[in-house]
Amino acid sequence: MNSVVFSHVTKTYGDKTILNDISLEINQGEFVTMIGRSGCGKTTLLKLVNGLVTPDSGSILVNGKDLKETDKVQLRRTIGYSIQNVGLFPHMTIEANIAYVPSISSMPGWDKTERKEKAAALLTAVGLERDLLDRYPHSLSGGQKQRVGIARALAASPSILLMDEPFGAVDEITREQLQDQILKIHEERKITILFVTHDIAEALKLGTKTLVLNDGRIEQYDTPDRILDSPQTPFVRELIEKSRNFSVRV
Ligand SMILES: Nc1ncnc2c1ncn2[C@@H]1O[C@H](COP(=O)(O)OP(=O)(O)OP(=O)(O)O)[C@@H](O)[C@H]1O
Ligand SMILES: [Mg+2]
Repeated sequence: MNSVVFSHVTKTYGDKTILNDISLEINQGEFVTMIGRSGCGKTTLLKLVNGLVTPDSGSILVNGKDLKETDKVQLRRTIGYSIQNVGLFPHMTIEANIAYVPSISSMPGWDKTERKEKAAALLTAVGLERDLLDRYPHSLSGGQKQRVGIARALAASPSILLMDEPFGAVDEITREQLQDQILKIHEERKITILFVTHDIAEALKLGTKTLVLNDGRIEQYDTPDRILDSPQTPFVRELIEKSRNFSVRV
C-alpha cells in the first residue's frame, strides 16, 4: 500500500515556482531520505504531506485519502512531525512536550497517571534518561532537544513520520547514535519516514530510498544503491562525487 502519493503537484510562492509538477509514490514502511540545496523546497514538500501547505495544483493522497477531503487537524495528529530547529514548547516540561499531541486529542492510554510512563518509554527509545521529564527545554543541550523532538513526534504512534533535518546541530558521534536509533525505531514500528538531510552520506545510510530534489523537480528517486551506481543526472553525479572526494588541509 502507498502511504503518500503526489500527482503532478505544483507549489508557487508569488511568481516563484518552488515545486514543479512533482509526482511521487511512497510505499508504506519506506524510509525516504530527501536531499537538495538550501531553498529547493524540501521543507515545503514535507508540509504538503501534513497539510500545513496547500498545493496550487495536483493532488496528494495520504494513506489512500485525498487531502482535499481530509480534516487537517485530524490528519496532523496521525502524522509525526519533527521540525527543523526542534521547536519544543518552552513553557512546558519535557513530559508535557512529549505528551502534547496525545493529550490534546485525548488519546487512550495517555491520562495523567499513564502519561509519565509513556513519556519515559519514549525518552528511552531515543536514548535519553527519564530524569529529564520534569525539566524545561532551555535546560537541555541541543542534541537532547533534538531527541526530545523525535520522542514528541513519535508519541501519538503515527503511521507516518516527517523529519526535517532532525540531526542538524549535533556532533558526529551523537549523530551516529541518533542515526542508529532512528533505524531501530523504523524497524520496530514499521512506520513510513520522510527525512530531510543535507548530508548525502546520511541520506544513503538511512534511506530505503533517496529523493534528490533540484530546481523544484525530482532529479532521482531511487534506492541508495542505484543512486550510487547509476546516477541519472549530472546533478546527482556531482552530489555523490562530492561525498567521495574528501579534501584535506595540507
Ligand atoms: N510562506 C512562504 N512564503 C514565501 N516564500 C516561501 C514560504 N515558505 C517558503 N518559501 C520559499 O520557498 C523556497 C523553498 O523553501 P523551503 O523551506 O521548502 O526550502 P528547503 O529546501 O527546506 O531549504 P533549507 O534546506 O534551507 O531548509 C525558499 O525560496 C523559501 O524562501
Ligand atoms: Mg528546510
